[in-house]
Amino acid sequence: MQWQGQALTPLNPDTAFNGYICANVVHALAQLGVFQHLTAERTLDVPSFCATNTLDTAVFRALVRAAGSFGYLDVHGDRVQATALSEDVARALGFFTWGVGGYHDIFANAAPVARGDRRFRVDLERDEAMVALGSAQADTALMRHILDEEIAGIDFRTLVDLGAGVSERISRLVKDRPGSRGIGIDISRPATVLAHETVARHGLSGTVQPVCADVLDILFKDHQVDGGDEADVVMSFMFLHDLLADPGRREEVIPRLRKSFPEARVFLLADTTIRPRTEGEDSRLPVFSSGFELAHALMGVPIHTREEYERLFERGGMHLRRTVPFGAPYTYLFVLEAS
Ligand SMILES: C[S@@+](CC[C@H](N)C(=O)[O-])C[C@H]1O[C@@H](n2cnc3c(N)ncnc32)[C@H](O)[C@@H]1O
Repeated sequence: MQWQGQALTPLNPDTAFNGYICANVVHALAQLGVFQHLTAERTLDVPSFCATNTLDTAVFRALVRAAGSFGYLDVHGDRVQATALSEDVARALGFFTWGVGGYHDIFANAAPVARGDRRFRVDLERDEAMVALGSAQADTALMRHILDEEIAGIDFRTLVDLGAGVSERISRLVKDRPGSRGIGIDISRPATVLAHETVARHGLSGTVQPVCADVLDILFKDHQVDGGDEADVVMSFMFLHDLLADPGRREEVIPRLRKSFPEARVFLLADTTIRPRTEGEDSRLPVFSSGFELAHALMGVPIHTREEYERLFERGGMHLRRTVPFGAPYTYLFVLEAS
């Protein structure tokens, strides 16, 4: 099986507790640039790394020591090197940014949420910028080559990305296609601020336009985004379930997408689905699925199976050209034509 993971269940309490601490340590080291440094330099000297990055040496030493005990770093005094695991984790960093950086408050408040004492979006938030950053990291490490292959055969001049996060993906695709332009739409202000930085970094200011807007307003309240009516390809990644969250409007989302982007011939819609459970299930779990499913339950956002998505597209009048496994566990890219 393509997404067979390596986490042996049942997770005994020792593994579970250490996994929790380890995930926080990995996220901290990633934020501090340790993995990037080791990829470039092979070795890290603790005092000089702390001096260069203005870090508290005692705290940094404790983080490095913890990472050493989890097998993520090879630590000899002040000299730190990568291990085989640190190379594996570099590919999976997006999941840590997403889970620890983006959803720590949601997971930590599971009991108050279960009691009804706290509610997502009322007095409980995720860190939207971290969620968007984690998705961008996962894209770079696991998904971009699959999308590149798919989009190579598609003609476009105006590309729209819905729930675009930091607009990394749309910037890259537009840069690779001279003469094209892009619009990256996201509801989050912090993500849109980061998106402007992404666009400037790629030298695409004026060619890719980050827009802070609610896609539901575009679909259901006729909110217009400049240039949106010219889109010939519409994409959305890891965002479709947000659009489908309200069961009362769910069936309308696909027809409204077609109506709001009347020139679009191709829709590239990717999302993570519910991990199928089978009888006599294998006792190993992959990264991400358990967190994705629990986080959305705590936020009250329904998620869907692959088959549910495929039926929804068909009922909404789109033709499914193909369903492509998309890097992260139980995540698919649906290649659709407006029929
Ligand atoms: C999981 S992130 C995915 C980001 C990006 N598509 C990627 O794959 O890297 C989902 C994004 O959807 C955005 N979002 C959620 N609800 C939205 C809405 N109603 N309208 C626009 N964006 C929304 C969030 O702010 C977040 O950036």
